[in-house]
Amino acid sequence: MDCEKQNLGGGVTRLSWSPVLVLITLVGLLSLQLTTTTFDPTRLLWGRSSEAYVSGGEVRKSCVRFYGGLPERKVLMSIEDFGGVGDGTTSNTEVFRRAVRHMQQFGGGGGSQLNVPKGRWLTGSFNLTSNFTLFLEEGAVILGSQDPKEWPLVEPLLSYGRGRERLGARHISLIHGNGLTDVVITGKNGTIDGQGRMWWELWWNRTLEHTRGHLVELMNSRNIFISNLTFCNSPFWTIHPVYCSNVVVKDMTILAPLNAPNTDGIDPDSSTNVCIEDCYIESGDDLVAVKSGWDQYGIKMARPSSNIIVRRVSGTTPTCSGVGIGSEMSGGVFNVTVEDMHVWDSAAGVRIKTDKGRGGYIVNITITNIRMERVKIPLRFSRGANDHPDEYWDPNAVPNVKGIFFSNVVSLNSSKAPSIQGIEELPFAGICMKNVSLLGLQSSAAWHCEFVSGFAENVSPMPCPELKNNVSSSC
Ligand SMILES: *[C@@H]1O[C@H](CO)[C@@H](O)[C@H](O)[C@H]1NC(C)=O
Ligand SMILES: *[C@@H]1O[C@H](CO)[C@@H](O)[C@H](O)[C@H]1NC(C)=O
Ligand SMILES: *[C@@H]1O[C@H](CO)[C@@H](O)[C@H](O)[C@H]1NC(C)=O
Ligand SMILES: *[C@@H]1O[C@H](CO)[C@@H](O)[C@H](O)[C@H]1NC(C)=O
Ligand SMILES: *[C@@H]1O[C@H](CO)[C@@H](O)[C@H](O)[C@H]1NC(C)=O
Ligand SMILES: *[C@@H]1O[C@H](CO)[C@@H](O)[C@H](O)[C@H]1NC(C)=O
Ligand SMILES: *[C@@H]1O[C@H](CO)[C@@H](O)[C@H](O)[C@H]1NC(C)=O
Ligand SMILES: *[C@@H]1O[C@H](CO)[C@@H](O)[C@H](O)[C@H]1NC(C)=O
Ligand SMILES: *[C@@H]1O[C@H](CO)[C@@H](O)[C@H](O)[C@H]1NC(C)=O
Ligand SMILES: *[C@@H]1O[C@H](CO)[C@@H](O)[C@H](O)[C@H]1NC(C)=O
Repeated sequence: MDCEKQNLGGGVTRLSWSPVLVLITLVGLLSLQLTTTTFDPTRLLWGRSSEAYVSGGEVRKSCVRFYGGLPERKVLMSIEDFGGVGDGTTSNTEVFRRAVRHMQQFGGGGGSQLNVPKGRWLTGSFNLTSNFTLFLEEGAVILGSQDPKEWPLVEPLLSYGRGRERLGARHISLIHGNGLTDVVITGKNGTIDGQGRMWWELWWNRTLEHTRGHLVELMNSRNIFISNLTFCNSPFWTIHPVYCSNVVVKDMTILAPLNAPNTDGIDPDSSTNVCIEDCYIESGDDLVAVKSGWDQYGIKMARPSSNIIVRRVSGTTPTCSGVGIGSEMSGGVFNVTVEDMHVWDSAAGVRIKTDKGRGGYIVNITITNIRMERVKIPLRFSRGANDHPDEYWDPNAVPNVKGIFFSNVVSLNSSKAPSIQGIEELPFAGICMKNVSLLGLQSSAAWHCEFVSGFAENVSPMPCPELKNNVSSSC
């Protein structure tokens, strides 16, 4: 697909903020003047002061508030300093690897930044390092190699026990990092194009031997900031932070053809303190999917995904959902907030996917201010994926789903009412809906609920009776 061919879907629902918040923000802005602007990733990423700032006269919540620009790195070099050739055909794999190896030594001495200038920089997989910025200037395009050997095999993730698609090892991501601290991937809207078509074809024609690689994967890392770039045509999930903490993904455009298989946008996996903000995503799979490992492997590792914010994400995915939780969620998922999302022409708005064998839990999920247009099933909870890593999954490992709060949801021109299907052995509890309007549904469209309990107020059309009893006091 052509990366240039897309639009930035605006139209995110505007919120009206209480005067109190405005006051807090003003106080915050005043105190800002007294603070220094030196880079402190913990302040940049997860500071303790007010979460709102003023942008164009409008108060907006954000994870990245009063930071004084990007971290200054002591050493600044260009990929050209290492002999890179940006002609779109010369391989720069060794050049990128050599560059990062060289810059690694500055990690403890003020960090380093590798600039990628305008041009088309073909490369195989390379790793990042700590205290490091990868900066793509305007017109810079990093192109993923078309040679699978340039995406070498690595061990499967412990929480999956095998490659997600094929047994055993998996292809490494194009841009990879393991055990890093303070990594920034940013620029002036340069592009990282995975050129994934070859991989999608291997998948389609059933000749894929090992699980496809991600575009960007960071493992066991913290203080990660990915912003102001366009990522496109990932072979598989586009951005995959796994076993990470303090991750901000902001102002990103993520594109893949709408039929490209499993090209999820952003998949926080067994990670905590993750903020995904102001992103436009269109792809062949979930725009955002929160995960935490697969069946007995995820249960054993028990690394949940928690404290996750998905804010002002917009986009479209014809066969999947705006935000998905699962289906791999065996390490547990808790404290997720999805707000100000705009999704159109998609299969689902919010989808919770799980099954027997998964174990784990999905608890304390807040979904608010969601606008959908032409989304087939606006809200969907489903089971029965019958998708297990091997035959050793435990049929008694039943996930615990409770405390899911929906409010201020509008869906126009959906074709089906919500479908909320729990699991008989442990029904989903505390499914709460307030101010949910599904407009333009056919009068015959009825809610479909099974093995759930919860509460509904100001919901139309009339929700299923299961949501009307007061089984849960937590709403
Ligand atoms: C970034 O570039 C893409 C094209 O690659 C464009 O559609 C998008 O609007 C640009 N984003 C910004 C913020 O300029
Ligand atoms: C990164 O920089 C910080 C200081 O800013 C330093 O404490 C840390 O050791 C550095 N990390 C590495 C891996 O060099
Ligand atoms: C990148 O890191 C992975 C481990 O996370 C390692 O297996 C691989 O060999 C590294 N690649 C390079 C080019 O250093
Ligand atoms: C499958 O797709 C790959 C990648 O495009 C191609 O190289 C290969 O020839 C195809 N195999 C078959 C059997 O179609
Ligand atoms: C991202 O782009 C916006 C708009 O061009 C700019 O205001 C902001 O400073 C940039 N952020 C970073 C981290 O470069
Ligand atoms: C939930 O996550 C948010 C965002 O990360 C965080 O600010 C908040 O403290 C968390 N709540 C709890 C109860 O941990
Ligand atoms: C869920 O929220 C409730 C109420 O705030 C809290 O008591 C409970 O500890 C939370 N559970 C998890 C797993 O976050
Ligand atoms: C109900 O939700 C809609 C759409 O988000 C919002 O505009 C409206 O203010 C909400 N009503 C109440 C009473 O919160
Ligand atoms: C749904 O689509 C029809 C046309 O297909 C349009 O007339 C209508 O206004 C749309 N919105 C709602 C809420 O039904
Ligand atoms: C459900 O609980 C609400 C608030 O606690 C209460 O007002 C309402 O009467 C209860 N409804 C039923 C059917 O018990």
